[in-house]
Parts: sequence; structure tokens; C-alpha cells
Amino acid sequence: MNLLNRIMMTLLLTAVSAAQLQAVCIVPQPAMMKETRSVVQLPSDKLRVYAENPSLKPLVAVWADFLDKPYLPGTEKLSTGFTRIVSETVLLQIKGTGSRTKADIELGLDESLAEEEYVLEAMPEGVSIKGGSTKGVWWGIQTMNQILLQAAAGTGEGKPLMIPGLYIQDKPHFAYRGAHFDPCRHFFTVDELKTFIDMMALHKLNTLHWHLTDDQGWRIEIEKYPLLTEIGAVRKETKIGRVDDVAAGYDGKPYGEGCYYTKKDVKEVLGYASARQITVIPEIEMPGHAVAALTSYPWLGCTGGPYEVWTTWGVSKDVFCIGKETTFGFLEDVLDEVCEMFPSEYIHIGGDECPSVRWESCPDCRKLMKEQGYESARQLQGYLLHRIEKYLNSKGRKIIGWDEILEGGVTPTATVMSWRGPKGGIAAAKQGNDVVMTPNNYFYLDYYQTADPKANGEPLGIGGYVSLEKCYSFDPYDQLDENTKKHIKGIQANTWTEYIASFDHYQHMDLPRFAALSEVSWSENRTSYEDFLARVTASMKPMYEYFGYIYAPYVFMGIE
Ligand code: ACM
Ligand code: ZN
Repeated sequence: MNLLNRIMMTLLLTAVSAAQLQAVCIVPQPAMMKETRSVVQLPSDKLRVYAENPSLKPLVAVWADFLDKPYLPGTEKLSTGFTRIVSETVLLQIKGTGSRTKADIELGLDESLAEEEYVLEAMPEGVSIKGGSTKGVWWGIQTMNQILLQAAAGTGEGKPLMIPGLYIQDKPHFAYRGAHFDPCRHFFTVDELKTFIDMMALHKLNTLHWHLTDDQGWRIEIEKYPLLTEIGAVRKETKIGRVDDVAAGYDGKPYGEGCYYTKKDVKEVLGYASARQITVIPEIEMPGHAVAALTSYPWLGCTGGPYEVWTTWGVSKDVFCIGKETTFGFLEDVLDEVCEMFPSEYIHIGGDECPSVRWESCPDCRKLMKEQGYESARQLQGYLLHRIEKYLNSKGRKIIGWDEILEGGVTPTATVMSWRGPKGGIAAAKQGNDVVMTPNNYFYLDYYQTADPKANGEPLGIGGYVSLEKCYSFDPYDQLDENTKKHIKGIQANTWTEYIASFDHYQHMDLPRFAALSEVSWSENRTSYEDFLARVTASMKPMYEYFGYIYAPYVFMGIE
């Protein structure tokens, strides 16, 4: 065969094969994706990856680790009888090589791209992933994982992977794409948190909001105040069932001894997250949700106690005393250690659900009110938050707080996390504050995911109903004009763990709703819910199965 014939033959074969290949589905929907009618053949056992730039070499190891370490399959069942799904997909291996000519996939940097932007080209001669920074390359790798798994699913064992030629140019709509992690009500280990971080990465989420202190448990080591974790991590028992189920009573079992993160743990988690291009923001709650701290050091409260680490859920009247200078000494000491541990620009200082009834009858709080000329004890909340913001600013940090901080009159530099629906966020953006939208009616993933949770066998939720479609329907720019839109920095989902005692249950609440969070926060131009659900089914569901993650099956059974 002469050369011309050979080329003609190759073109013919390629054209036929390209038409036969399944279209690739990606979540979140890329900004631009074209199939180029060619066929790319990759080995299914080991993919050789070449990183052109030395700063990208560690990514290859992280990528290999990511794909090689699915969450260990087991036989554990949730109380509902929902069984763990075990991966049956071919295990892909990534092998870094130093050789450019032999590489199947090349990673590189392109300064003309934005920081988190990437361009992925799959061509017959190989795949190229270029990013504006390590972050961009990492998000391109996540897209590649979806392409590889879809190819692997349609390939027999030992056969090469066939993928269509592709050109993808992609970047996120929002800079803040967050997931919140609550180990206070129920504790989760460092290994579970690492799996959670992997779950975030595959959805291109880039910010972990780590809620570390609450009424039912203080979960972070503070050297200057060791009782916070000796006493404050442990509750004597836990409410069974829902708070309104009085008859169910308490379990009588102490919970939480040793359940906190040491400084070494924090370092390990931060290193793990950073290698996966995820920023970690710690939350130290004040002035409410503080019963665990008050139990450890009763002088932090208005009455002096005695207090008891909370054994039930809800909002406690016992909160930090704002009239005592010693409270500020304590909070500043804690924040000093927190800032030493966490390099994040933002520190979350809570601010939600704080009754003022104790302040009203506390001589110290009343004295401070008089000095400040306050008419209402509620104003003390703003006093505390402003002082703490100033303190953190002096250490080069910025604050984020729940939307209640608006009630105390926020400074323009505070970022507001809107949880009681979007309205707090809309008000904050209109007055010029930056906002992260985490509205409970769209992104509280401790809410049920079907209309009839009992009939559908859902595990216990906190109440409410947020279907995948409801998450997907969120419009972050609702009621905002061009001037105020710029204050919406991003979107976050919150999963509180009052009723979530196992990591299996945690995953069941977050997956597949993380897919909606991913697309709402990443994709500027969304398609339709039907198209999204088809892509989740084709791409994310096999992903979850590959990693052995527990996911809620309802939408895949046609139930919402
Ligand atoms: C919250 O859900 N209390 C922020
Ligand atoms: Zn007081």
C-alpha cells in the first residue's frame, strides 16, 4: 500500500469509528466543547503522563493517588437498608514518565488562560491539558477522569480506550465553589474528611468550609485551652431521633472522647486539600453555638454555669458573655492559634442563631450596653463581631459570617454567607458586601431529597425538601442588577450532621446533589435540567461507582 492509500485507509477507519463512539458527557457543563471527528486511542492499563513544567509534576502523583484509591468497598448498610455500591469499573492507572515522546497525556501551563481555566485537546497523537495555573490543570484532569471512565465503561478488559477527538475550553463562573463539613454534631475522621475532599475535587469545588466548634462538641485542639477538647469534645449522651420525638429519649452513651482534630491532623488535611487545589476556611462559632466552650470554661458565659455539652439539637440560650473582657482575651487567643494553623484569607466567625436573653440579665453585659449607649441587648452581637473583625483584619485576615451578622450592622469588608434563603445575600450585595450564597431552600443537603422520604426509604434528614432539580434551579443573580451581581462570589452547600452519624449517610446526602452545586457554581451557561440529569447519569453516577461512594439512587430511579 502506498502512503496515500494508507492515509486514505486511516481516514476511512477513523471516520467510521468516530461516528460509532458515544458522545462524551461532562459535569459541570464546560464553557465550550467540540468533538473533532477523530478517534483517540489510549491504553487502558497504564496512562503515561508527562508534565512539562516542574511545578506540575506533583499533580501527576496526586492524580495517580486519586484514581488508585477508591473508597474501600464494604458491606455496611444504612439503617434504611440502602447498600453500598461497589465499583465494577476497570481501574485506571496513571503513571508519570519523564519522556515527552511516549506520553499519552501532556500537562502544561498557558499564561494566556485565567487561573482556573483549562484547555483540553484530545487528538490522535495524544491528549494535552493546559491550564492558567496548577488549579486550571487540576480541573482539566477532573474532566479527563470523566472522559476516561466513560471510555472504560464501553471497553472490554484489556482493550484500548477509544475516545472521540475533543477540544474543550473551560473556566468557572464563580471563584468560590464551596462545601461545608460539620464534624461537631457527629465526628468524622481525617480519612473520611480526605474522601470528602476527593468528592469535592471531582465536582470542581474549590473551598472547604470546616465548621469546627458548636454546642455539641468542640473539635479543634487549642494548646492554650486544653479543656476545650478534654471536656468540650464529649457529651454525656445523644438525643435519639428527631428533637420533636420526645418519647424516643436519649441513647445514654457518652459521645466524642478524643473526637477532635489535633494540630497535626489540621496540617495533614490542609496539605491534602492544597494538593487537590482546595482552600480550607475554618469556622469558629461566636457568640452563639458556644455551649461546648462554656462547659470547658464556665467563665466565658454570663451566668458562670454550670453548663453541659449539649446532648440535643437546636439553639441554646447560653452563649458567650460579651460584657466580660476575658471573653475577648479567650477568643483572640483561640483565633491566634487558628490563624497559625490556617493560612486562608478568610476566617468564618459564625454569628448565626444567637439569642440575647442571657445578655439582658447579665450585669457585665448591661454595663457594656450602658457604656456603648445601646438600647437593645441585640446590639451586643454587632459589638463583638466588629471587634473580632478588627482583630482579624489586624492579622491580615477577612471575616465571613452567617447572614445574621447583617443585623448588627456589618462593615463593608465582611463577607456574608446567606443561609436563610437568598434574601440576606441579596440585601448584603445591594449594600455592597461580598456574598456567598448558601440558601437553605436550595443548598441545605441535610434536607430530604424526595417528596415522600418515608415511602422512598430515605435515611433521617433534618426536614425540608431539596430535590436535585430544586438545587439545579437556583439563580444566584435573582433580583440583582449589573452593579450588585459582582458581589456574588459564589455558592456553597451545607450539610449539618445532627442526624448524620455515619460517613455513608453523609455521602448519601451530598451525592448526587453535589453535581447540581458543581454545575450551578461552575457553568455560566446552563442547559436544561433534563440535559443535566442525563449527563449526571452518564458521567457522575459511574464516577461515584468507580470510587465506591454512596450516593442517593432516587433520581436514577425516576423519583424526586
Ligand atoms: C445555620 O444553618 N444555622 C447557619
Ligand atoms: Zn454577659
